[in-house]
Amino acid sequence: MPALNAPRAHWASRFGFILAAAGSAIGLGNIWKFPYITGQNGGGAFVLVYLACIFLVGLPIMMAEFLIGRHGQRDAVGSFAALEGKGSPWCLVGWGGVLASFILLSFYSVVAGWSFDYIFKALTGGLSGRSPDEINALFGQLVGSAGQVIFWQALFVAGTVAIVIGGIRGGIERWSKILMPVLFLLLLLLFVRGMLSPGARAGLEFMFRPDFHKLTPAALLDALGHAFFTLSLGAGTMITYGSYLDRDADLFSLSLRITLLDTVVALLAGLAIFPVVFAAGLEPGAGPGLVFQTIPIVFSGLPFGSLLATVFFILLAFAALSSSISMLEVVVAYLIDEKRWPRLLATLLVGAAAFLVGIPSALSFNRWAEVTPLFGKNFFDLCDLLVSSYMLPLGGLMVAIYAGWFWKGAEEKAELVGPTRRPWLFPLWHFLLRFVAPAAVLIVLLNQIGILTG
Ligand code: TRP
Repeated sequence: MPALNAPRAHWASRFGFILAAAGSAIGLGNIWKFPYITGQNGGGAFVLVYLACIFLVGLPIMMAEFLIGRHGQRDAVGSFAALEGKGSPWCLVGWGGVLASFILLSFYSVVAGWSFDYIFKALTGGLSGRSPDEINALFGQLVGSAGQVIFWQALFVAGTVAIVIGGIRGGIERWSKILMPVLFLLLLLLFVRGMLSPGARAGLEFMFRPDFHKLTPAALLDALGHAFFTLSLGAGTMITYGSYLDRDADLFSLSLRITLLDTVVALLAGLAIFPVVFAAGLEPGAGPGLVFQTIPIVFSGLPFGSLLATVFFILLAFAALSSSISMLEVVVAYLIDEKRWPRLLATLLVGAAAFLVGIPSALSFNRWAEVTPLFGKNFFDLCDLLVSSYMLPLGGLMVAIYAGWFWKGAEEKAELVGPTRRPWLFPLWHFLLRFVAPAAVLIVLLNQIGILTG
């Protein structure tokens, strides 16, 4: 066990940090969730709102989270305690983040498990030579089987635990460095393939021609919530990762690069998927199965299709892993920093607990599909709604209010945001943080609550 006042582990290199933080950001949110919620919310207009949320709300909050973590040099709760004193109400924001990360990990692992199953399917040739209908049915069979889903979910949690036990440099940083670039290349290939397919035009129009009549209040909430989800904000993740960052890192350029990478990957995923959706006559609003039902179709028409499909699902699983490790790390860092638990014990126990809590989510697609405790939604959808639509935006809102209004000496503390080289940056950042981000979150949340009760 490290001595109590041993220097805190830091990232081995700036590049390693970018890849780890981008690895947290880029995950199922980009490749699985973004396309399917874009499909459900009618395309173009939703994408525009989403992009606005990313750059006007998400990016400034990401910078704030990094700053808080880097100044606090502790986990999400401890960083607030280090800045505001132990017992400060701001520590609740950290607490909320730890809780959100834990719930996220529980249901994220279920979907990530599906990608494990698809690796296996692709590897054994189970996806090749099948019609779109058959591929559709395969997805239904998988999620319909409680045993299979839970088996893969368990395996995924075990993988996450194994990496987090290795800690920051040996585990998280090393893996991200190898896998993220390969994922990117493969998505490029899929994108090109999509653009050459007969559905290219319809796909592009769907994603980029806005029809504002399709923007419901629920779509606004989805877009904002997803901006937080895809950038890993509002759950203490970027505070925790920022705490492993050294003092002279240029937070603006790091955050901008992470945000751009994340956005490009989401758009590439959409542009790979929607042409296929239209060419094969599938339903854009098909829901959570969308990637699993379209990508195999693309590959089945390519040379070496089975091989490429295998590689794709391996990378999807790794993208999910580099995200899930960041969720687990938030909780583990809290237990290490605040409760003095050894890393090994913390990781094993939290992993086991997240697996158990995730089981009702796994059952939501089969045995408990009809169990809808609230709002007519099953357990999985409730977890997703609670975390993605409420906890993350609220957590992000509090970070924005803290850094924008309450953090004393924010200007000096944010000096690395770049007053010398970029005199415009601090005022712009502060303005977005003080006014734009809180207004956006409040309007969307209040709107939604009005709808829930009305
Ligand atoms: N951003 C990841 C994705 O898009 C998921 C994720 C990881 C996350 N850590 C998070 C989401 C913390 C919210 C908060 O798949």
